[in-house]
Amino acid sequence: MQRIGVIGGGTMGNGIAQVFIQNGYDVTLVDIRQDILDGAIGAIKANLERQVKKGIISADDVQVVLMRVHPSLKLEALSTCDVVVEAATEDPKIKLPLFAGLDSLCKQECVLASNTSSISITSIAGATKRQDRVIGMHFFNPVPVMSLVEVIRGLATSDATFHSTMELAKKLGKTPVTVNDYPGFVSNRVLMPMINEAIYCLMEGVAEREAIDTVMKLGMNHPMGPLALADFIGLDVCLHIMEVLHTQLGDDKYRPCPLLRKMVAAGHLGKKSGRGFYDYGK
Ligand code: 3HC
Repeated sequence: MQRIGVIGGGTMGNGIAQVFIQNGYDVTLVDIRQDILDGAIGAIKANLERQVKKGIISADDVQVVLMRVHPSLKLEALSTCDVVVEAATEDPKIKLPLFAGLDSLCKQECVLASNTSSISITSIAGATKRQDRVIGMHFFNPVPVMSLVEVIRGLATSDATFHSTMELAKKLGKTPVTVNDYPGFVSNRVLMPMINEAIYCLMEGVAEREAIDTVMKLGMNHPMGPLALADFIGLDVCLHIMEVLHTQLGDDKYRPCPLLRKMVAAGHLGKKSGRGFYDYGK
């Protein structure tokens, strides 16, 4: 497992590519837009240069590490990869055809992993003829910093695929945790209702936004309060995951907060749009 493919040059994709190249793997990074690929390489370079300033790596290391990433606009560039980690847009209408395409062009033994935050791994695998070699590899933002990888087994994921994926995550210096294929897995099934409840607290006037975040930071030792974290993740992403939990588990305890819906409708998506529960300027 030396040649890795990463699909998607956004925040998650470029973070995933960075941890692979920093651990000695060759990465082909594919996106459909050149500006996103350029942005991804720029983000990786900026992160590596920050590590140079801190004395963690040398300036020469940056050049060596960057030479391991090969950006491409063509999916066919992944045909020789041993593992492909997909971090494309979180939409089954995009992911399922993408996996069908990967299945037909990637070599037989290649493992196809998805970084999906809430789409069923079993349904993604169902779009391929290699259901035993499809698995979830759910990284956390910021990927170079967060040590967890949720490894999600679909209904037909083989033991061989599971064990090789666990090993791969360990080789990246991450801690893999095994999870079965349920809506939201463990991470988002627990995290998103907490964020949603914090938004209800704000909507109902239980406390001001800073007070809600301070309670969770100082009272529960969370590094960020839930409203700041929602802004960091993206309010559209939070709403989408709540909708998946609500629809697929069928329990009203997962109903998305109306204020969350309103914020997304207004385009206040958090840090990425410059405004969410907090203001980030331009
Ligand atoms: N990329 C790379 N490195 C980053 C980074 C980024 N975007 N942001 C921060 N860092 C690094 C910094 O360089 C610093 O490194 P150092 O320890 O070597 O000096 C370290 O992270 C700490 O950064 P800062 O000192 O600037 O800031 P904080 O101490 O406030 O930490 C944080 C920032 C790591 C983001 C911290 O606030 C945190 O852990 N927040 C919670 C993040 C979280 O919960 N993520 C999960 C989101 S859910 C998810 O991803 C799942 C999805 O399905 C929704």
